[in-house]
Amino acid sequence: MSDNIDDGGNGALSTMTLDGEDVGFTPGETVYEVSERYRREIPTLCYDERLEPFGGCRLCIVEVEGSHNPVASCTTKAAQGMKVTTKSGRLEMHRRVLLELVASENRDLDVDPMSGYASGEMATLLDRYDARTGRFLGLRSGTSHPDDPNPFILRDYENCISCFRCVRVCAEQEGDYAISVMNRGFGTQITTEFDGILKDSACTFCGQCIQTCPTGALADLKALASKDVPGETKLTRTICPYCGVGCSVDLMTRGDQVVGVLPAMDGPANHGALCVKGQFAFDFIGHEDRLDTPLVRGDDGQLHPATWDDALDKAAEGLLAAVDNHGRHSLYVVASGRAPTEAAYMMQKFVRAGLGTNYIDNCSRA
Ligand code: SF4
Ligand code: SF4
Ligand code: FES
Repeated sequence: MSDNIDDGGNGALSTMTLDGEDVGFTPGETVYEVSERYRREIPTLCYDERLEPFGGCRLCIVEVEGSHNPVASCTTKAAQGMKVTTKSGRLEMHRRVLLELVASENRDLDVDPMSGYASGEMATLLDRYDARTGRFLGLRSGTSHPDDPNPFILRDYENCISCFRCVRVCAEQEGDYAISVMNRGFGTQITTEFDGILKDSACTFCGQCIQTCPTGALADLKALASKDVPGETKLTRTICPYCGVGCSVDLMTRGDQVVGVLPAMDGPANHGALCVKGQFAFDFIGHEDRLDTPLVRGDDGQLHPATWDDALDKAAEGLLAAVDNHGRHSLYVVASGRAPTEAAYMMQKFVRAGLGTNYIDNCSRA
């Protein structure tokens, strides 16, 4: 590789030309991946970097010297000596017409941002390309399932553009294959097996299809139920409180109310994936039954609010009584998988050295 070629910081070996600039790439990279790395702005609709490229929307077209027609950059591998143009009047014209065409199939072009992580992608591109022209008045594709009886996922396929990101994320990320595609052309329809309702399918309600949908055709019903809660939506990066995996999430809040959860696409443990609990089971946070003070059972058999010191003394008394009356192996301790290593170490020390038993496990394994 020549000294004057920027390798994009990845020690690339092969070279190509991008808009007249010599750039390096690693064999196997697509033209889109190389262009992204060199900060070119190529529009996409069917692309999700976590998924195998699909090449359906053709919005990511680029010109390659020697090729008569533009090619989809997300499915075209970079090649030694390739000369690529990512922006030209012809490309921008094609992209605009493509956007006008997909927009013509949808009932709503703008959806509530609470619908899902990627729900504003198409609307943003329509504005960027000034493509809300209404020049093409054609058929609508997709039949909505407004009465699918589940509390989590809105299935509004009249706003579907057949990018199949939902089907692919369900198969490739979730490994679930709960949804698929039937028919062709304007009859194309996202469906479950036997075209039934989601809860009778293999769906685990992980919510991944919602979060990758670029139009809000699939939307987060729980978050949308809070769309009238006053205030601006704020996002706070945190870790899901449920299990030991430690998925990163962005909690959506309005005032002091949690109104929804967005998976963190850059979360090192989850890359945008969540399970049904992490995605939807956040009502406990503000629930009136949630304990906010220790309770100790009194001589009257009832639970009474207590201080932490009193509650810990009572717990110690109970543990020692169990050892005295039934032997040290009458105790079994399960530590939290969410505890840091130091706390886990202290817990096993407490159980082994303090209580005298090896019966300790961790909820990630138990
Ligand atoms: S919620 Fe998850 S399992 Fe259900 S269809 Fe969507 S991606 Fe598949
Ligand atoms: S429902 Fe959304 S993600 Fe699925 S094909 Fe339609 S537009 Fe794409
Ligand atoms: S993003 Fe490349 S074809 Fe859709």
